[in-house]
Amino acid sequence: MSDLYDIIITPDPVLKQEAQPINKVDAAVQKQMDKMLETMYEAPGIGLAANQVGLLNRVLVMDLAHKDDGEKPNPIFMANPQIIYESEEMSVMQEGCLSIPRQYADVERPAIVRVKYLDYNGKDAELEAEGLLSHCVQHEIDHLNGVLFIDYLSSLKRNMILRKVEKLKKQNII
Ligand code: NI
Repeated sequence: MSDLYDIIITPDPVLKQEAQPINKVDAAVQKQMDKMLETMYEAPGIGLAANQVGLLNRVLVMDLAHKDDGEKPNPIFMANPQIIYESEEMSVMQEGCLSIPRQYADVERPAIVRVKYLDYNGKDAELEAEGLLSHCVQHEIDHLNGVLFIDYLSSLKRNMILRKVEKLKKQNII
């Protein structure tokens, strides 16, 4: 089995910090991307940002393929992602997070975004996303800015979720 990162669970300062841009996608960054992807698959999840594995560089991975239904893996690697367009139209979807296990809540975000980034080979790339992919990429970019989906909720709801996570930790369930 390949070595995986440990996924950091809230509360942890690294989840609240801003990740720094990388200079270029070199072999070390590619290795990090590969290892993040394996960690995400193993969890399993559909997105993972560097902060969640304790690294503060602007790297994220996603894969929305339904592998259980026989779909081929479709990994997306991003370094230095930047939202260059967001629609006025909004979308509400239930989100979860590997750093906030087993907790879900509706989050409202721009329905469509366009993201500029460096791909696995360090080339300039762009992605236009809607639906789940749009929520996912915005959620992961939020991580790189030290923002969690629960930050969009009322403090009442947020604290309820944090208490539940605390309880699961104490019970050694997560
Ligand atoms: Ni997350």
